[in-house]
Amino acid sequence: MKIHFKATCLIFLILSASALKSAAQQADNRYPIIPYPTSLTPEAGNFTITPVTTIVLHGNRLFKNEAAALNGFFINSFGKPLNKGLTGSKHAIVLKYDERIKADEGYKLVITPQWVTLSARTTTGMFMAVQTIRQLLPVQAEKPNAIQLKKLTLPAVTINDEPAYAWRGMHLDVSRHFFSIAYLKKFIDVMALYKFNKFHLHLTDDQGWRIEIKKYPKLTENGAWRTFNNQDSACMKRAVDNPDFTIDPEHIIQKDGKTLYGGFYTQAEMKALVAYAATKHIDIIPEIDMPGHMMAAINQYPYLSCDGKSGFGTLFSTPICPCLPSTFQFAQDVYSEIMDIFPSKYIHIGGDEVDRSLWAKSDECKALMQREGLKNTAELQSYFINNMEKFFNSKGRKLIGWDEVLEGGISKTAIVMYWRSWVPKAPVEAARNGNKVIMTPGNPLYFDAFPDKNSIPNVYNFNIIPAGLTDAEAKNIIGAQANIWTENIPSEKRADYMYMPRMTALAEVLWTHHQDYNSYLKRLSLHYNRLDVLNVHYRLPDLSGFVASNVFTDQDTLSIKKPLDDLTIRYTTNGTLPNVSSTVLDRPLVINKPLLVRVAAFRPGGSMGDVYDLSYQKQSLAEPEMVNTISNGLICKEYKAYFKQTTAMPDTKPDVTIKVNDIVVPKELEAPSFGLKYRGYIDVPTDGIYSFYLTCDDGGVLKIANRLVVDNDGNHSAIEKNGQVALKKGLHNFVLDFIEGGGGYTLKLKYSLNGSEPREIPAQWFKN
Ligand code: ACM
Repeated sequence: MKIHFKATCLIFLILSASALKSAAQQADNRYPIIPYPTSLTPEAGNFTITPVTTIVLHGNRLFKNEAAALNGFFINSFGKPLNKGLTGSKHAIVLKYDERIKADEGYKLVITPQWVTLSARTTTGMFMAVQTIRQLLPVQAEKPNAIQLKKLTLPAVTINDEPAYAWRGMHLDVSRHFFSIAYLKKFIDVMALYKFNKFHLHLTDDQGWRIEIKKYPKLTENGAWRTFNNQDSACMKRAVDNPDFTIDPEHIIQKDGKTLYGGFYTQAEMKALVAYAATKHIDIIPEIDMPGHMMAAINQYPYLSCDGKSGFGTLFSTPICPCLPSTFQFAQDVYSEIMDIFPSKYIHIGGDEVDRSLWAKSDECKALMQREGLKNTAELQSYFINNMEKFFNSKGRKLIGWDEVLEGGISKTAIVMYWRSWVPKAPVEAARNGNKVIMTPGNPLYFDAFPDKNSIPNVYNFNIIPAGLTDAEAKNIIGAQANIWTENIPSEKRADYMYMPRMTALAEVLWTHHQDYNSYLKRLSLHYNRLDVLNVHYRLPDLSGFVASNVFTDQDTLSIKKPLDDLTIRYTTNGTLPNVSSTVLDRPLVINKPLLVRVAAFRPGGSMGDVYDLSYQKQSLAEPEMVNTISNGLICKEYKAYFKQTTAMPDTKPDVTIKVNDIVVPKELEAPSFGLKYRGYIDVPTDGIYSFYLTCDDGGVLKIANRLVVDNDGNHSAIEKNGQVALKKGLHNFVLDFIEGGGGYTLKLKYSLNGSEPREIPAQWFKN
């Protein structure tokens, strides 16, 4: 009896678990909302919108702009707006003021078969409700002049929603490469769709000054233009294989017989952009980066640097001189004009990556440090930042600085933007000190880092609150932001590719505590059609289930599962890039000779995903080594120097030698720049084709049994590369070289056997 009861229970549990799962999947299909709302209750039935449905502005006209924004989708669909209805109209969409909704950006949305009600206390809350409805409408509603529809349906639902974090930001560097106002508008539109509210524009840097300052006209007359630099050349090289790396010809001019790259925004253009963003409830936060990153300005106004010169030092460019009254005059004049353009409460001063050594040599600085009792140049930088903060505050604004501003001490009222992943204590100390903190750690929130299959999960699983803070201290973390530095992003298409879709993962992390990666992925898969209509050149989902350099002993087959149903996978075997007319990979491809297969996915509209180069070579199983004395672990030798390639490490005596049991950067060996050589054996349990997955920042190269397995060399952000080797059971020579240029400290190695999922390498496999 008891057993029977248990069995029934179990069957019931299994049935209800699978029923729940399929209900959840249905909910993801029916409500593909990103970011997922704080509370969503599915309801049965639909509300049908036809051209005779009315929109009712309940009580007052507070929400007339939001009603107009909503009507935009009906104009697209029906060729005309919905008419205004009166309070009490049947079958209407009602926008209602509700003072009970406490959160500034909160709203309530109730859709029933009879009516739709959007309630909010603020226009921002109502705008957010409109974005949610937008994501529930069919994609056709996004298309201006769409074929005219007879009706639209909205699924019944009850949503109570508000954001978890106040600062939901995206950043764009328009200095290293320049972006048109039209692109910035498109960027703002996409931010609005995903409920972001802060757009940080990095307007100036060594490579170009991008905003008109009337008092200092040379900043843009000359400072906005440059001859092509080494970053441009690197892009041009890449453009051979990928047209998205082509320098945007719109920003190239001929002047005085020279070809120049650049551009700038007039104050009028920028004011119009600020007003445009305000209609989408987005603040634009300007950054004029100083005292470092100011070469474009110093080149035009040399009196800004301590010695009248400018150039690049070992790491950073010459900063402006904080010891000269003329520097403060310039900074305040510039920021006065900036504050006239940008009404934002927050103004970003930069403050990162300053070569302070030049200040130490200046007589004016020596005198000022003595006069003000400043012990070092870090305190001198704080003196500059603190003075600028007083100036910002006098104009009713708050100062934001990159986290280096903490180094010489800052006031409690300054806001810290954390970026240096390798200084994890910075946001913790800032929050404890009482400063408000915005999290933008390089890993995973620098969206200029080349995306790979880990980028979206890394963003989705990002913990906004750093470990070690109490609940009260954690309140000082006001949100997060993704940054897009554009040294390697010379075109609008490339920018789209770099930030989309990973920004949707950040949207969900910032807006809601809902953490369900599979549900998010399902909903994301339903966004690509909308992004196509919005002309966003997003990165296509990764192809997976294969490695880049394959080996086979007899023959191999290649088949790839499509991550989206409407993708087509195409390939070439003659070395050319795949294109829309290449052969379709719709059945397993048999490989029995050395071959390079180039594979890419294509959207129905023809846009192409990443190209995967899969090389195949024939190998025999490597014979194991016969070694007598052996102990556990690997030998790890450290060379403390900066290397561009692993091959640059010397063969001389290392600075430090230790024994390790796993492949991570050993804490005790960290230094700003260094190289590591891991040496020993790997003891594999069976004959087989082993795949290895090496993720590193910066470079790494893996050789096993004297065969090159993974080449992930060079200075780069954390990327995974993989490869295979055919091994007989037993001990094989293991050689892993790793270099760290500064900042990343990522080193991971996983394996799989005969096509299994990648997994950790058991420690007992490592011997020496
Ligand atoms: C920065 O990436 N230098 C803020």
